[in-house]
Amino acid sequence: MPNPAQQPDLFANTPAWTPPAGLLHLSGLFECPEQAELAVAVAEIARRAPFRHPRMRGKGVFSAAITNCGDVGWWSDEKGYRYLPGQPDGSGPWPAIPDAFRRAVGRAVAGTRWEGFAPDACLINFYGPDAKMGLHQDKDEADFTQPIVTVCLGDAADWMIGGPARADKATAFRVNSGDALVMGPPARMLFHGVRRVHAGTSPIADLAGRYSLTFRKAL
Ligand code: FE2
Repeated sequence: MPNPAQQPDLFANTPAWTPPAGLLHLSGLFECPEQAELAVAVAEIARRAPFRHPRMRGKGVFSAAITNCGDVGWWSDEKGYRYLPGQPDGSGPWPAIPDAFRRAVGRAVAGTRWEGFAPDACLINFYGPDAKMGLHQDKDEADFTQPIVTVCLGDAADWMIGGPARADKATAFRVNSGDALVMGPPARMLFHGVRRVHAGTSPIADLAGRYSLTFRKAL
């Protein structure tokens, strides 16, 4: 199967824009049955580690709800951002990364220079119709030479990518269910976020909203 990253129409909605080096948008990587399988796996994780709205260090809560699977899970509260070895309520470890997730990651990095990427953590965000994520860097991981791989499921969204500084201009493009994003050096530390969700566009029967699965090498 050809790597969609090599196809010329990756950013059909922003044809004049060239993605930064290190960012791959793999449009339509996963067919509907694979998307549904991944969504079922998310639901199983959420049954054992429920979605929660983490608090920010200052005040307020994230509009996206999160859960995790893997050896550690990303969390935020008044103590700041960090990876936790277990669920924040002390109810036990995070569920293991399912095989279906690992197969999806393998598909996303196939043919790239991150072919051997072996995540130990997966942060799962759930975006309802009004959820968004402000521009931020992912910088709580130990090794920034490792990429972050994102799998998009459910509602489409406008995903933003900026520069190395928060004030740098950001460009938004649409990500759809079944897309993957690979964000490796030199794009690894660029600011990014989610500007809006296109509610009601999910092609997955049992998913109203958007999941983003972000695979990291955290430790
Ligand atoms: Fe992020």
